[in-house]
Amino acid sequence: MHRQDFVLPKTTYLLNHSVGRPLASSQAAFEQSFLAPWQDLGREPWQAWLGVIEQFSANLARLLNSQASQFCPQVNLSSGLTKLLMSLPQLQRKGVKLLMSEIDFPSMGFVLQKALPDAEICFVPKAADVTDIQVWQQYLTADMDLVFISHAYSNTGQQAPIEAIAAMARQHQVLSVVDIAQSVGVIPIDLARLQADFVIGSSVKWLCGGPGAAYLWVSEAQLEQCQPMDVGWFSHDNPFEFDIHQFRYHPTALRFWGGTPSVAPYAFASHSIGYFSDLGAHVVREHNQALISLAMQQLGELCVSPMKESQRNGTLIVDLGQDNQTALTALTQADISVDVREAGLRISPHIYNTADDMAHLVEVITSVK
Ligand SMILES: Cc1ncc(COP(=O)(O)O)c(C=O)c1O
Repeated sequence: MHRQDFVLPKTTYLLNHSVGRPLASSQAAFEQSFLAPWQDLGREPWQAWLGVIEQFSANLARLLNSQASQFCPQVNLSSGLTKLLMSLPQLQRKGVKLLMSEIDFPSMGFVLQKALPDAEICFVPKAADVTDIQVWQQYLTADMDLVFISHAYSNTGQQAPIEAIAAMARQHQVLSVVDIAQSVGVIPIDLARLQADFVIGSSVKWLCGGPGAAYLWVSEAQLEQCQPMDVGWFSHDNPFEFDIHQFRYHPTALRFWGGTPSVAPYAFASHSIGYFSDLGAHVVREHNQALISLAMQQLGELCVSPMKESQRNGTLIVDLGQDNQTALTALTQADISVDVREAGLRISPHIYNTADDMAHLVEVITSVK
């Protein structure tokens, strides 16, 4: 039903953990919101362009049940996380303790190491089950200062119980940062319920909004104490005050903004986020899970991502052991786009994929095995 809303290739596209497909309406929306004010207005287009970014934050707020003022646009998660970690006074001391998982996206680990070089980073080991709250209970001890949690791990198909982990962090007075890069758009997220301290995300994957439109979300309780080091005139309470001796942080999350912002990525992403807010993440989730279940029924033990829906994210992992590369080649030849990581093939069906897509995928994989 929603297939015609997207620009789809002739191949069967199942790489939504990497880059979601653009909406058919995105080009016109982009031309109207970004190019038209620039091309057609006799004055400079900033008023219209800043409106685009406001809309981006408003659409995120609608999708994630929060307030627009709590979001700050960022170029990518790594940059947003660096700014955040360097802004928190209580983390700037020797021996500060941070917890993350060995299966988090490596870039996030690089940031923790470099933004806080005096910190001790503790890892939930790779072999531990990140879907299990008891595992987090074991590692998330009261002596930690901050816990970094990925909502969805695309290499294993697992989903972390973020609400329970964030609650545990609150109980121990440990700061929580949640990475929603791989879940936003395909798993419903309610930031008001989650009550994390900070959230970072992007638009390029399941939100089909292209690269460069990431964001940092800051809880109201933490905002005041955030003192970003990487600032610019758009981080100022009044960017147009222009007094070089007076810097005051913006009263909202925009204190993390910096210098002259880019606009184009947000113009593109805003339209797409609006589409998914209208559609509802639960609709995408149900469809995605139904298609994953279909493939799981056929492929049985080859599926190594979680069986239980509550532990699954949007990606199915199929492991044929030494035959993974052969399977990838066969799938590519059959015009089915997936990729492979250490745990197996990553298969990510979106709202525009169909039961036929999964049947075709199953047929090719079964022919290899
Ligand atoms: C869980 C997760 N976090 C973060 C990222 C990307 O981070 P960045 O926007 O800094 O490239 C990815 C990219 O695949 C990811 O899967």
